[in-house]
Amino acid sequence: MQRKSLEDFRSKLTPSLDYWEAYHSAPSNIALVKYWGKFEPQLPANASISFTLSKALTSTKVVFTRSEKQLISVALAGVPTPSFIPKIELFLKQIAPYCGYLSAYSLSIETTNSFPHSSGIASSASGMAALAMAICDLEAELSSNPLDRQKASFLARLGSGSAARSIEGPIVSWGKHRELKDSSDLYGTLFNKVAPVFSTYCDTILLVHKGVKSVSSSVGHGLMNNHPFAEQRFAQANHNLGRLLRVLESGDLEAFIEIVELEALSLHAMMLSSTPNFILMQPGTLSIIQKVREYRMQTKTPVCFTLDAGANVHLLYPESVADSVSQFIEAELKTFCEEGQYLTDQCGQGAV
Ligand code: PMV
Repeated sequence: MQRKSLEDFRSKLTPSLDYWEAYHSAPSNIALVKYWGKFEPQLPANASISFTLSKALTSTKVVFTRSEKQLISVALAGVPTPSFIPKIELFLKQIAPYCGYLSAYSLSIETTNSFPHSSGIASSASGMAALAMAICDLEAELSSNPLDRQKASFLARLGSGSAARSIEGPIVSWGKHRELKDSSDLYGTLFNKVAPVFSTYCDTILLVHKGVKSVSSSVGHGLMNNHPFAEQRFAQANHNLGRLLRVLESGDLEAFIEIVELEALSLHAMMLSSTPNFILMQPGTLSIIQKVREYRMQTKTPVCFTLDAGANVHLLYPESVADSVSQFIEAELKTFCEEGQYLTDQCGQGAV
């Protein structure tokens, strides 16, 4: 496939429809090699790669109505949520150069998350991906072409960087990397040389802290500017991604575990060493990490952890060991979760 440039995403379509309804759902994703640090306009400082999930979803209905003045309304789980409007207006402004027809429409957005609200799971990736799919649905209708999923990833990225990786699945990279010839800083690319074990990999999200994060990811990305270890970190991530590509192809679980845990800890090491510094892990996060390492050593079960920008722990393991890992969670890890809560998910196919 030809690598696309910015110009390829501009649309000159005329808004010929008066009314259109679009329904889409998009999953969350969990990065194996982390994106942390960016440049304008929402371009990653290093390449990243993630598992697309299947159960942690945002489902969104958008009603587009032609109108002279663009009005936006948003309801979350049936409740009008005007506090989301500024973020959506900003997103629409960012994508305006690529979707000129949109300014002719008012948008009424109804959205729901499959995961509990304020569970500590970020809904920005799945939310932006679902909204971008809905906009591309209108564009497909206006142009009489099939929905352009690559453009959906391109638009989603402008709303939230990691959202670029929530359109396809089960494994998607984002960011130019010399070992991935179709990779781009502008949109996510499906990685299609996946060993069978990884296409059904499981992710149990242990909800250590369900509240809102103390530092947003946009502030965190910003702290990578002038970070003393920034250049080393970006080089490390690109190196780890190169190694991981070979591991994803070969199915080498030992190497997978080593790289994924290193990435999680490196992400948090950046937070611990920025100015100002911050700690998103909680005591329960560290207790779980220790338990996982002990369990793995004692039982040789190939289970490992990764972390997002928060306290929750994602446990990653092959489907073949799901029963024993589930017993381990119930017996030893659940106690560190807020209200004993965790969510069991698995790799999936992306937005529908
Ligand atoms: O997409 P953002 O701006 O919310 O940043 C996501 C950053 C991490 O989740 C920590 C890492 C990643 O690659 O998803």
